[in-house]
Parts: sequence; structure tokens; C-alpha cells
Amino acid sequence: MKLPIQYTTSLVEVSSQARPIEKETGVLQEDIAWLWPRLLSSRDQVLADVENKKNGRPSPIFPEPVDSRFFDLPEELLASHSELQRMVEVAGTFGQEHDSVIVLGIGGSYMGARALFEGCCHPYHNELPRARRGGYPRLYFEGNNLDNDTMAGLIELLDNRPDEKWGIVVISKSGSTIETAVAFRIFVEALRGHCQKKGLSLGDHILVVSQEGSNLWRLCESLDVPKSHMFAFPGDVGGRFSVLSAVGLIPSAVVGLDVKGLLDGAMAANEAFRTNDPAENLILKYVAICHLMEIQRGASIRVLATWGKRLEALGLWYDQLLSESLGKNGQGATPLTVVNTRDLHSRGQQHQEGRRDKLFTNLWPAKERLVPLGIAHCDADDDGLNEYAGRTIHELLNAARQGTNQAYAEAFRRTAEIVIPQIEERTLGAVFQFLMLATVTEGYLIGINPYGQPGVEAYKRHMRQYLRKT
Ligand code: PA5
Repeated sequence: MKLPIQYTTSLVEVSSQARPIEKETGVLQEDIAWLWPRLLSSRDQVLADVENKKNGRPSPIFPEPVDSRFFDLPEELLASHSELQRMVEVAGTFGQEHDSVIVLGIGGSYMGARALFEGCCHPYHNELPRARRGGYPRLYFEGNNLDNDTMAGLIELLDNRPDEKWGIVVISKSGSTIETAVAFRIFVEALRGHCQKKGLSLGDHILVVSQEGSNLWRLCESLDVPKSHMFAFPGDVGGRFSVLSAVGLIPSAVVGLDVKGLLDGAMAANEAFRTNDPAENLILKYVAICHLMEIQRGASIRVLATWGKRLEALGLWYDQLLSESLGKNGQGATPLTVVNTRDLHSRGQQHQEGRRDKLFTNLWPAKERLVPLGIAHCDADDDGLNEYAGRTIHELLNAARQGTNQAYAEAFRRTAEIVIPQIEERTLGAVFQFLMLATVTEGYLIGINPYGQPGVEAYKRHMRQYLRKT
């Protein structure tokens, strides 16, 4: 199965030439070759810990948590037709039965689904008439903050559509995260009123993904949510590694996305990861470049430059993945997502001439998805655009990407690129798994357990104390 994405870079140099240190911006082919055996060994340890977890054995490398089961999710789900079919059928029907669906969740229980929605649905999905949405509902995301006005505003919006039906998808592994729990309580009350007015049964309008037996799971049982609407959060999978489980698949299926394609793309990434061939193992090559750029060139900031707005949420998903996985023990590169060309007009100056502490990786979709818009010829030419007449918007974006790469290269700030043919479920599945595997492998390489996020607990502890005091 061929990986539907490419990873290319001009950063690899065949030999070091004598030149001033500020121009030493790349990594040497010989250093990648030197690192390769360690990368293969880290990859093998990652895979060994996948097997260890399955067989109930501890990792010889890291203490728990070692939530390595994410690796097997695509294969397992594609093989167990019945579970995948249940997800697609139940969530698809739920979508068709509602005009709007509110997805409640935060962090790993939110960001992947949002990335899929923004990447694969029409950019103005919620504004389209129902028929143009394929009969699927509008999708809103809440429970990812403690933001009174967005929640109140959404409830107001729903109340202003009295003829329509809405429902909730609530996602929380622990089932006790305060942002999601508070939002669920608020939206369930609003939904209760909505159902009473329409003579509907509350539980039928809720889908839940959580650990079986969690507070949320039990609450949903007490709300008479049908068993068929309850999906188990898979064991031994961390939140930020869960996008290819019910966590990402249920919201995707609610709006009719191709979840099988998503899993197929991820499986292709798994296969590429297993190969020892440096030309084919783009995931290990990505880790090599990121790691060598950080330790040899001080590139501790990893800029993921997404080209076009549809990939921004995927970039934010990666921000969480890298931050929570490797930001431990005073280590770990800092991720930064930008959207170009938008952010060339805000961050571009610093990226061109600021501190040399960044590695730029473009996430480039080679083709647009909707009808290509072009620049028409205009006799008056008051705006002076006639010289670009006949060019499409995507061609302009491509020229901006090439121009940016060249401008950076001239300042000895070169770029790597993840190229996808088009933004769609299969390619995004491959990108998700590519980045998860790269992040985990880098953790093994630098001796940081990529699983778990102990640092996130500190703010929650203090927050609870403040709530008790006031
Ligand atoms: O990656 C993680 O594990 C976290 O970001 C969690 O996903 C986030 O804190 C939400 O937790 P939960 O799913 O338990 O509500």
C-alpha cells in the first residue's frame, strides 16, 4: 500500500563545504546515515512496546503509561467490520436525524475531529442548505473551553431554530474533565427543554464516547442514552493519539466523512514505518531532520506552515501532539502552526530575519478541492492584475509557497515539505499516523516517554483549590 504523502527537503547536504557558521543551515547526509541505526532501533522499540502492551507485558524502556495501542487502531477497526459498521451506521443515522449536532470535548477528545471537519467538509458547511450538506447536520464544537459567551451564543442560536432538531456528541476519555463535564450539564439542560417541547426522548439525542464505567458513561446511562449510542474509548490509547478511534470517527461519520478512507491512509503510514529502506521510510527521515536540526542547528521551534485555512486545525492538533508528548524534563521542541499566506503578513518578517531557531515544514496540498477560481482579464485593469489573468488561486498559492521557500533559502533558512495530493480523508489519515509515529519515535530516540501528560494536572489541582476558596 503506497503512502499517499511525500516528504521532501532541501535541507540535506551531501557534504559540508567551508563556509561561515551562519550559513550552516542544513543537515549532512552522513549524519543521517550515522543516526539511521539509532532511528531503526527506536522504531523497533516502539513496535516492540506495541506488542508488549498487547500481551500484557511492561515496556523495558518506560514506566507506565505506555499507551501504544494507537498503532493498531486502523488495522483492528478495518478488520472488525461490525464495530466500524456500527459506528458509521449509528453516527450517520444520528447525523441524518438532526439539523445540528454539538460535539463536546477538549484536547485529544476534540482537536482531531475538528481537523477532519475543517479539512474534509465544505469550508462553509454550516451555512449550506441541508441538501447541499448531503442531508448531514451542521456541526459545532463546544466544551473545549470555559467560554460563557460561545456556549450562551450557541444555545441562543439553537433556540432561534424552533423547527429544527439538534443533538449532542460528548467525548471524554476520563469522563470527568471539567470543561467537557460543565458544558455537557449545560447543553443537556438545554436539550431537555428542546426535547420536552417536541415530545422527544432526551437519551435518543445523545451519543457518547468515554471509558466504560466513567462518571460520564454512568450519567449517560441514567439519562437513558441507548446502549447503541455508547462507544467505548479504547483502552491503552491516550487522548492525543485517539483520532483514529471512535473519538475522531464518530464526529466524522455524523457528517458523512469517509472513515474507511481515513483508516486506509493511516494503515499505509504504518506500513511505511515498518520498512528499513531509508528512501521509503519517510517517517524516520522526518524524525532525523527534526532531531538533527534541533541538536546541531538549534532549531528548537518547529513551524508547521499549513498552506490554506483548511489545514489549520490539523496544525493545532499537531501542536498538542508534540507539546504533550515531548515537552517533558526540560526537553522537547516547541511547535508552532501558521497558515500561509495569511501569516506571511504577520509572522513572515520574523521567520525571514529573526532568530535562527526554527525549522520550517510546509504542509502542502498539491490540488484544491472545490471549483478552481481564476483571475479574469479586465479591460480597465485598474488593479493591475491583468498580468496574472488566467492564473488560478491555487497557482498563486503555489507561487507564494515557492517564493517563500526561495526567500528563506536565500537567507539560509531552508524548508522541508510534507506534500499531499489533496486534502481528503485518506491523505489526512496518513498525515495523522505519520505525525503520531514520528513523535513517538523521537521520544524513544531522546529518552522521553511520549505517552502521558503529567504536567497538565498542575493547573487543574490549583483551579480546584481556587474554586473551593471563593
Ligand atoms: O491528550 C490527552 O490525553 C489530553 O489532551 C486529553 O485528551 C484532554 O485532557 C481531555 O481529556 P478527556 O478525554 O479525559 O476529557
